Amino acid sequence: MTYTQAKELLEKYGQTQLLEYYDELTPEERNILLSDISKLDFSVLENLGTHGGKPLGKLSPADALSVEDIAKRRKEYEEEGLKAIREGKVAAVLLAGGQGTRLGSSLPKGMYNIGVTRPLTIFEQQMNNIFDVVKQAGCMFHIFIMTSAINDRATREYFKECNYFGYDPLKIHFYEQKLAPTCSKDGKIYLEEKHKVSLSPNGNGGWYASLVEAGYAQFLHENGIEWLNIYAVDNVLQRICDPVFVGATLKSGCACSGKVVQKTSPEERVGVLCKEDGLPAIVEYYEMPADIAALRDPDGKLTYRYGVILNYLFSVEKLDKIYGDKLPCHLALKAIPHIEGGVKVTPAQPCGYKFETLAVDIVRMMGSCLAFEVEREREFAPVKNKTGVDSVESARRLLELNGVKL
Ligand code: UTP
Repeated sequence: MTYTQAKELLEKYGQTQLLEYYDELTPEERNILLSDISKLDFSVLENLGTHGGKPLGKLSPADALSVEDIAKRRKEYEEEGLKAIREGKVAAVLLAGGQGTRLGSSLPKGMYNIGVTRPLTIFEQQMNNIFDVVKQAGCMFHIFIMTSAINDRATREYFKECNYFGYDPLKIHFYEQKLAPTCSKDGKIYLEEKHKVSLSPNGNGGWYASLVEAGYAQFLHENGIEWLNIYAVDNVLQRICDPVFVGATLKSGCACSGKVVQKTSPEERVGVLCKEDGLPAIVEYYEMPADIAALRDPDGKLTYRYGVILNYLFSVEKLDKIYGDKLPCHLALKAIPHIEGGVKVTPAQPCGYKFETLAVDIVRMMGSCLAFEVEREREFAPVKNKTGVDSVESARRLLELNGVKL
């Protein structure tokens, strides 16, 4: 793209501030900037002022398989799940494209060291969890790892350096999600450097679209992969392709399922799996009205008690049917480093928006979802922050509780 073409394009979208420092740049820097501009997705800016979607519909609690229900049919579910895994029908998708800004490390979140007396990264711990299933099933399943342009190289190199933790490298597939521009509250796209547009991963909602765009639709089809288990990188107790979960989902006839834990309090900051206008939905903690979150059943349990832990199983057949349907775009107000008045500023307070689509919105589109309750001490140890709630400290405690030597 030439300077004139870039200028014309930016004039159309009212974003000419991106060329403010063009005259000061070296030829190489100019090329970087023009290339960034040529790849920009301006359509996300249409979401400004919408605050991520429509008003909430009529909520009702989800029907769930409780821990007790599952215990009664455990063997049966497990056999069904192991059969599907052995037949190659199930693959895992690790969502590792996020930036982990709250952890404050510039490395991929999965490379964060959670060890105490020895190095143990989140990636390694999750691979150890996967090996539990591999041993049980007697085979390895395919694992897709979604990265972003920001952490793709470091992630791939790390896995290679670690010899893929003993996993078959031919069964590990990396692919990149897209980036979206960030902008100020008044909708002006930020520069991260004078020669670089500020970009951030466009949310975890695009995981399937990016997988297809990376050319894997045919691969899934050719390899008979019918179910995809997506999971977040930041839960070190994540059980991946859990045979009991897989078996229960298959038996339920639902198009997807989600692992849930009982919320500890109405205020806990997790999304709630419930129904909205009769359809499965995940309502984020900041969208849930406080009076509804506080409702209790006659037995004292929270009526909306099932918190999601970002571990879902999706039917590929159904994903293909809804492919192309537009996901809502959420605006996340964040502290975004950017160039202001010719210098780089790193604000302490949120100053602008990142644009993200969310995997939870796909659940809504699947039409049916099994809520599958798991014990939180066994399966939910999120690493979101450095200290305090959902932190490295709390995750370490939970890992030790589960017999992991740190
Ligand atoms: P979070 O919502 O916690 O975001 O991601 P994050 O980027 O990791 O962390 P913060 O908010 O900047 O501190 C939940 C899961 O979704 C993945 C993350 O890698 C994590 O596994 N994710 C998030 C993506 O894969 N892509 C994204 O664009 C955002």
